[in-house]
Amino acid sequence: MKLLLLLPFLTAVHSAVVPAIDTSGHFHSNPLSAVAPKGKNVTIDGVLTYVSLPKKFDPTVAVLLLTDVFGLPSPDNLLLVDQWAAAGFQTFAPDYLNGDAIAIDGNVTTWIVNHGEAQTTPPLLAVVKALKKKGVKQIAATGYCFGGLYITRLVQNNTVTVGTMAHPSFLNVPTDFELMKAQSHIPIEINNAQLDTGFTPDVALQTDAVMANGQYVPGYSRRQFNGVAHGFAVRANASDPVQVAAKQGAFDTSLSWFKVHLK
Ligand SMILES: *[C@@H]1O[C@H](CO)[C@@H](O)[C@H](O)[C@H]1NC(C)=O
Ligand SMILES: *[C@@H]1O[C@H](CO)[C@@H](O)[C@H](O)[C@H]1NC(C)=O
Ligand SMILES: *[C@@H]1O[C@H](CO)[C@@H](O)[C@H](O)[C@H]1NC(C)=O
Ligand SMILES: *[C@@H]1O[C@H](CO)[C@@H](O)[C@H](O)[C@H]1NC(C)=O
Repeated sequence: MKLLLLLPFLTAVHSAVVPAIDTSGHFHSNPLSAVAPKGKNVTIDGVLTYVSLPKKFDPTVAVLLLTDVFGLPSPDNLLLVDQWAAAGFQTFAPDYLNGDAIAIDGNVTTWIVNHGEAQTTPPLLAVVKALKKKGVKQIAATGYCFGGLYITRLVQNNTVTVGTMAHPSFLNVPTDFELMKAQSHIPIEINNAQLDTGFTPDVALQTDAVMANGQYVPGYSRRQFNGVAHGFAVRANASDPVQVAAKQGAFDTSLSWFKVHLK
């Protein structure tokens, strides 16, 4: 009886790919940031990777950071990697955009043609494999925008230990979460923005409908940040306290999630 009542609701929800936000919809902080990145570019199994290491860290644990479409050329992304290192983790951001990050005024529609899963997955998995070979036993994966799809895949595929993503795009809701629920044992957390026009609050609620209230047994949590838009976890206008607090809040939420789920 209960199932019958639910059916009209289920058929009314259409599964859809979360659209990408055009580059013009991203705020960029001053690229000539006063703070210089502290990490280094290294080549791991043929893949350019920005690596930031804290003074002291557990070599069996690593943070894998999957950037947005602006990739390693964006200082904001490098500083975010450094922020994870400052929290005590060796942190790796592979250039899974294959040396072709989008320009600040680039066109996502034309750019994405050469950045599908077929092109993006091999460099990403090469670095994951190399980390595991190096003795990393637990990978905490964090992804932003474009990176959200790949966090979803890594979690669905049980490739990492724990995942978190902010304002994800390109994933299919609710289908990708149904698949996650069907085959994953990896906890996942989402930070979303009230003003995101891609992963909207409505899409977030569709995600909750599959995952929340204990439905996703490995662990699910979502936090919405009000008054901010897509990209808020990567870039904040330093003169806007709401943006600054949301960016820090997303970081702190992801960090707590990792601490709870890493052994
Ligand atoms: C690392 O490589 C990226 C992409 O080529 C470049 O933009 C960045 O400045 C480099 N960073 C460092 C610290 O060398
Ligand atoms: C991006 O390129 C597509 C395909 O060429 C075009 O339809 C669209 O209008 C472009 N978007 C912008 C914002 O220029
Ligand atoms: C996850 O698994 C699917 C199905 O086997 C595969 O197509 C995809 O490339 C994998 N992605 C990642 C990031 O591991
Ligand atoms: C940054 O925030 C300040 C204060 O709200 C505002 O005056 C300024 O226009 C913002 N800058 C950008 C680039 O949005």
